[in-house]
Amino acid sequence: MSTTATTGGYMPGFGNHFATEALPGALPEGRNSPQRCAYGLYAEQFSGTAFTAPRHTNRRSWLYRIRPAVAHGPFRPVEAGLLRSRFDEVPCPPDQLRWDAPPLPSAPTDFVAGLMTVGGSGTPDSLSGCAIHWYAASASMRRFFYDADGELLIVPQQGRLLIATELGLLTVEPLQIAVIPRGLRFRVELPDGTARGYVCENFGAPLRLPELGPIGSNGLANPRDFQTPVARYEDQAGSFELVARLDGRLWAADIDHSPLDVVAWHGNNAPYRYDLRRFNTIGSISFDHPDPSIFVVLQSPSDTPGVGALDFAIFPPRWLVAQDTFRPPWFHRNIASEFMGLIHGVYDAKAEGFVPGGASLHNCMSGHGPDAETFAKASRADTRHPQQIADTMAFMFETRALIRPTRFALESPLLQRDYWRSWAGLARHFDPGASGRGA
Ligand SMILES: [Fe+2]
Repeated sequence: MSTTATTGGYMPGFGNHFATEALPGALPEGRNSPQRCAYGLYAEQFSGTAFTAPRHTNRRSWLYRIRPAVAHGPFRPVEAGLLRSRFDEVPCPPDQLRWDAPPLPSAPTDFVAGLMTVGGSGTPDSLSGCAIHWYAASASMRRFFYDADGELLIVPQQGRLLIATELGLLTVEPLQIAVIPRGLRFRVELPDGTARGYVCENFGAPLRLPELGPIGSNGLANPRDFQTPVARYEDQAGSFELVARLDGRLWAADIDHSPLDVVAWHGNNAPYRYDLRRFNTIGSISFDHPDPSIFVVLQSPSDTPGVGALDFAIFPPRWLVAQDTFRPPWFHRNIASEFMGLIHGVYDAKAEGFVPGGASLHNCMSGHGPDAETFAKASRADTRHPQQIADTMAFMFETRALIRPTRFALESPLLQRDYWRSWAGLARHFDPGASGRGA
């Protein structure tokens, strides 16, 4: 097991350029595709955006590899298990939905076989929307995978992942995330034997850092904390399988060598990892709450300026200091649809039921907010004193499109069919005879 070697300072969505080689002189100088590459390597471009995308959003890398990506046998369709990318199996209910955490598989199940689609929106072929999956795995991959349908945002909740990619190794543990560009080939190994977490498969524009506006030049996720791998290659012959996801289906082809054979690469279409504990959390130091957009780590922009198609937000440990303020997240309903997961600890808007590894889904205009117990406690709290939420890390995949649950998600025994009762205890306190001006 190799340790991850990385370079820091990847700024998703902005003008990066990395250059890394596992053998000296493997990177050509002065041109991308020389007539003959060093060491007998092949040159190959790996594009993640349209050729003519503006410079600040353009993503592409040049790979110098033992064999080009085209070298494999024909694809055959394979069983996709609980993986979905069309979201019209069942009607989308307006109910608030919540699920327990999926169990770890008892039979050997690798990362790809362990993917279970909870819901999503859009379609891969329209380059719009996303699919949201759990993964629960108990075996390292002995095959290779790439996803032509989307970029993969991987959020581990339990167990480390060693992600061996064409462009190098990434290790990620719970409280870190990994982002794998659309189409990059990789293999996931499980250093701890088992692993569980969440994946957002982003069909739309690649994730990037949000603009900061009046916050200024620092804050939220800082660019220097994003890490990309250095070049590392496998010169390995054998009988392997290359699994592809395209148009929602899974396909497999025989390949007689490891496709992780890139000896050197340069460019900015690259995988990266980020440690959520590095997030600089910003909030109110007077009263009230900013909108939860203040917690956005990464955003996939839509075609509408300023509007995200997909936001990845986190709710990390933080101090609550707002005075004369109801401090937990308020009651609300949004145009947005919100899928939440809990990586660690307790979420401050719920007394119980939202468990690590579990999930909730509050779709467009579905009312939600603190449960009755949390409301009662927060309404009585003494806000002259700060309060620390120390033991928590929740996250949200928020989309402007409806997140339609799959049949599996709605029929699963993991679905908490009494979730609506969280708010059943919200009593009527209205008293027209009481003095005005609440505080
Ligand atoms: Fe919400």
